[in-house]
Amino acid sequence: MRAPVRSPDCMSSRSLDTLYIKTYGCQMNEYDSSRMADLMREAYGLRLVGRPEDADVILMNTCSVREKAEEKVYSELGRYRLIKDERPDLIIGVGGCVAQQEGERILKRAPFVDMVFGPQTYHRLPEMVNRIRRERVRLSETDMPEIEKFDHLPASGAAAHSAFVTIMEGCDKFCTFCVVPYTRGPEVSRPVADVLDECRSALAAGAVEITLLGQNVNGYLGPGPDGEEWDFAMLLHAVAELEGLKRLRFTTSHPMEMSDGLIEAFAELDVLMPYLHLPVQSGSNRILKAMHRGHDRDQYLRIIERLRKACPEIALSSDFIVGFPGETDEDFEQTLELAREVGFDSAFCFKYSPRPGTPAARSEDDVPEPVKDARLQALLALMRESSRRAHARHVGHVEEVLVEKPSRAEGDMQGRTPDFKIVHFRGQARQAGQILPVRITEAYGQSLRGELVLA
Ligand code: SAH
Ligand code: SF4
Ligand code: F3S
Repeated sequence: MRAPVRSPDCMSSRSLDTLYIKTYGCQMNEYDSSRMADLMREAYGLRLVGRPEDADVILMNTCSVREKAEEKVYSELGRYRLIKDERPDLIIGVGGCVAQQEGERILKRAPFVDMVFGPQTYHRLPEMVNRIRRERVRLSETDMPEIEKFDHLPASGAAAHSAFVTIMEGCDKFCTFCVVPYTRGPEVSRPVADVLDECRSALAAGAVEITLLGQNVNGYLGPGPDGEEWDFAMLLHAVAELEGLKRLRFTTSHPMEMSDGLIEAFAELDVLMPYLHLPVQSGSNRILKAMHRGHDRDQYLRIIERLRKACPEIALSSDFIVGFPGETDEDFEQTLELAREVGFDSAFCFKYSPRPGTPAARSEDDVPEPVKDARLQALLALMRESSRRAHARHVGHVEEVLVEKPSRAEGDMQGRTPDFKIVHFRGQARQAGQILPVRITEAYGQSLRGELVLA
């Protein structure tokens, strides 16, 4: 859908130099933002700046997965409006999942916004910016082309020790509480060769760790170089063989598609790190069914059992929603029980919030706020204890730590263990990107402390 509207402001065609991007939401949005920066650098030579006040183009990459998403966007836009009052040349774009859902409503409600674009159309940014400058129009691009976007992106310019590569877009699962299938569209997998190429360039630019991204990476089914469809386990095997790769991770996966091949990969592939984020949302069969998750409690527990058999040291994390419509004390008790039984290393816990356009939003949001709060607190308390125990288990062990960056404390560096725990230790900035042995001396709730083991 395209909707050119004449702009009330008079735009000059001053040169564009600087870009500010504000990113909300999941890692896929982080990835998309870095690709937008690549695109705008290639098209206009735009340089990223850290403050919106210094930018000629401001892009917001929005998320609508949980409550108050729309309000947050409009309030942030209020800030940008003040900047635009001073500098009418400023170009403001709103992209991402709120943009996909709100579309032209954003142009109406915020008349100083120049363009609105969805997660599948941001490759058209340079063309949109061109038209805005040339024709003084305001644009909305929220159609969902079959991931043509990846064919129109320049090579990634980000050089990092740890690189992210999106392997698939969208989601076909339609959990009843979730907006993602509506904002991101159907599941579409990138061809194997494209994924491998992008991984190779990240490795050539110095990455040692790669994280494969998608809303349901294990639903991957992409055209392989042999003309066959490759599933996620096959893709993992191919990525694992790339020269220079030391660590491989992926997120997020869905319990429904934990194939034998994928579970075995944790045993077979040395570079595949022993960590898995596997959202369960609830421990109650009744609620899982109402959520349309496609599995029950026992099926989830059996997957965990098989994973631990294949890879005994695997760390597990999850997502939970409390206060889904109709959730009783008994349902919630089963969630606590499941969490206790699995003993997750970490978890993200959310209060249910109805999202516009989702099936669950048609049911009454009938769990009172104080009850949601109390359930959230109870689950968080259980998770804190579970996480503390998981961290404490590392004390006294020597861990291979991928050094990431200086930590906040002067003279300290921070990195990650294979099972994704944060470790702080005395170190030097030049060690970033190296994998070094660290003896763990102390455990905190969310991190570890250790000392470098000198050769
Ligand atoms: N694709 C991933 C999850 C993506 S959204 C998966 O299925 O595992 C990330 C998390 O946000 C979800 O796992 C869920 O716990 C939470 N979430 C999504 N919609 C929500 C809603 N309406 N209210 C509260 N939490 C929600
Ligand atoms: Fe949302 Fe469910 Fe898809 Fe995850 S699997 S993105 S929770 S619909
Ligand atoms: Fe949010 Fe969209 Fe990601 S809704 S979680 S930014 S897919």
